[in-house]
Amino acid sequence: MPKVTFVNEGKTVEVPVGTTLRYAALENDIPLYCMWFGLSKIANCHGNGLCWTDRVRVSPASAVTDRNALEQAMNQFGTFPKNRNPQTRLACQAVVMEDCEVVTRCKNAR
Ligand code: FES
Repeated sequence: MPKVTFVNEGKTVEVPVGTTLRYAALENDIPLYCMWFGLSKIANCHGNGLCWTDRVRVSPASAVTDRNALEQAMNQFGTFPKNRNPQTRLACQAVVMEDCEVVTRCKNAR
């Protein structure tokens, strides 16, 4: 099983191939929703790829599936250049294939 290391939290978990990063994080008490002063914890799309509040940085980018159409839209219409970085992914859409490191946006958000 691939290992996913959540860098900010200093935690490594093993997940079956095919697990979304969102599931891997939430099942292991890794916070994903820190935007808008934490309001995104309740104001998110619950894994449907529409709210963009669960953006993470994945390294290597090839350890998860390619961007799907929802993430391509973020890439195309997102206002922030960092969204165009191939390592920036939606945790709910990126599916784990190999070992990877993940940086969430929730540094110090425990
Ligand atoms: S939970 Fe809304 S985009 Fe991932």
